Amino acid sequence: MTEPHTSPSDVSTPAHATPRDSAIEMNQLVLPTHANALGTVFGGQIMAWIDICAALAAMRHARTQCVTASMDALDFIVPIQVGDVVNLRAMVNYVGRTSLEVGVRVEAGDPIAGSRHHAASAYLTFVALGPDKRPTAVPPLRLGTPEERLRSEEAHARREQRLALAAARRALHLSHHLREPQPAGHGVSSSAAPKD
Ligand SMILES: CC(C)(COP(=O)(O)OP(=O)(O)OC[C@H]1O[C@@H](n2cnc3c(N)ncnc32)[C@H](O)[C@@H]1OP(=O)(O)O)[C@@H](O)C(=O)NCCC(=O)NCCS
Repeated sequence: MTEPHTSPSDVSTPAHATPRDSAIEMNQLVLPTHANALGTVFGGQIMAWIDICAALAAMRHARTQCVTASMDALDFIVPIQVGDVVNLRAMVNYVGRTSLEVGVRVEAGDPIAGSRHHAASAYLTFVALGPDKRPTAVPPLRLGTPEERLRSEEAHARREQRLALAAARRALHLSHHLREPQPAGHGVSSSAAPKD
């Protein structure tokens, strides 16, 4: 029997969900398989853990499948060694119509020495998908504390910058594509083609 489609807005609890309700914390022990020749963890491995942690927070809020639309700039602050524990904490900062911004803070350290350092932070945008695999509406986020409201305002400003940058990149790709030398017979006469 086919399950009736329930859109996220039909689910009672998420409409009242705060960022804390969908927050995710993950711990990963760094093994030799995660490391490069220097014995420090691959950047791509950290990115994968960030993506997973953030996706879980997004889906916990949206109550539907979410895909990563973008990840903002990521700076690796300290090297992370084999044997360290990587702690990741993800929280939904902002909800648009079908998209969500999730912030992830990564800390790492030696569990025996008890050390712990800020290793990276990232902001990711996810888009919620319905059963038709098309973007679907996300339940609103209830902002209970002044800190949550501030995070949401900052996330909204980042969203505006992100979308403007994405539009500028698309325009640049388009103009680059238009300047690409076209193969013979595609409207560029031989006299107009570059000589060398
Ligand atoms: C993300 C994706 C679903 C967006 O599809 P789309 O047809 O462009 O959707 P829309 O134009 O309706 O935009 C949907 C939302 O995504 C946001 N969005 C789209 N592209 C974005 C980007 N590059 N960065 C941030 N947000 C983006 C829009 O602002 C909109 O948000 P809103 O509804 O909250 O206002 C589509 O590009 C996709 O499927 N990408 C591949 C995702 C994937 O496979 N990820 C795994 C890693 S490879």
